[in-house]
Amino acid sequence: MRSVKNIVILASGKGSNLQAIIDAVETGSLDANIAAVISDKRDSGALERAAKHSIPTFVLIRNQSNRDTYFNLLYERLREIDPDLIVLAGFMKIMPAWLVEKFPLKVINLHPSLLPCFGGPGFYGHKVHEKVIESGAKITGCTVHFVTPDVDSGPIVLQKALEIRDNDDAVSLAERLSPLEHSLIVDAVNFVLTGKFQIDGNRVIRKTL
Ligand code: GAR
Repeated sequence: MRSVKNIVILASGKGSNLQAIIDAVETGSLDANIAAVISDKRDSGALERAAKHSIPTFVLIRNQSNRDTYFNLLYERLREIDPDLIVLAGFMKIMPAWLVEKFPLKVINLHPSLLPCFGGPGFYGHKVHEKVIESGAKITGCTVHFVTPDVDSGPIVLQKALEIRDNDDAVSLAERLSPLEHSLIVDAVNFVLTGKFQIDGNRVIRKTL
């Protein structure tokens, strides 16, 4: 039996959350092996960060010619790696239902709001913060949830909240939220890898024994 759990991280952007996971693994606060980083952007910071730490990387770019086969390719890659957990850390593609269903309770996603508010198709990155500011909400935050076929709607693993200041805009909100996301994603990976939880409807209930 494998002792250290393998995780795969999917990331499209600058990869600061990937970095938080790398740092946690390297300092021993996360007992996991990053088996691979997969990106849909050739020039993503996430790929650079992974390469610096000698983590295997794969680039899968969705374009006109592979529109139908893109997620098959991703599935093949994930099946080969056979990870214990797939972490979407700023991955900006929506996985089709059939692919999500291949990995039940094995895919988690980091989202930059307090779900179920400000989630779903079209809510990603700074767009989320713009909508939060426009709404007049006084509190925002970040969420890690299990990925299910309904976008941003799966059982919530962990959340952290942040007060919105009167002078906040989408940029300042994203900046202030970032450190919360970094600790949240590490805590969530740690928690999910323990397996000490059960799912009750849409709730993730911690097992106390
Ligand atoms: C994070 O803020 C994450 O919450 C968001 O993308 C950013 C990635 O930052 N994810 C989504 O919007 C997913 N819907 P990073 O590239 O620095 O890790």
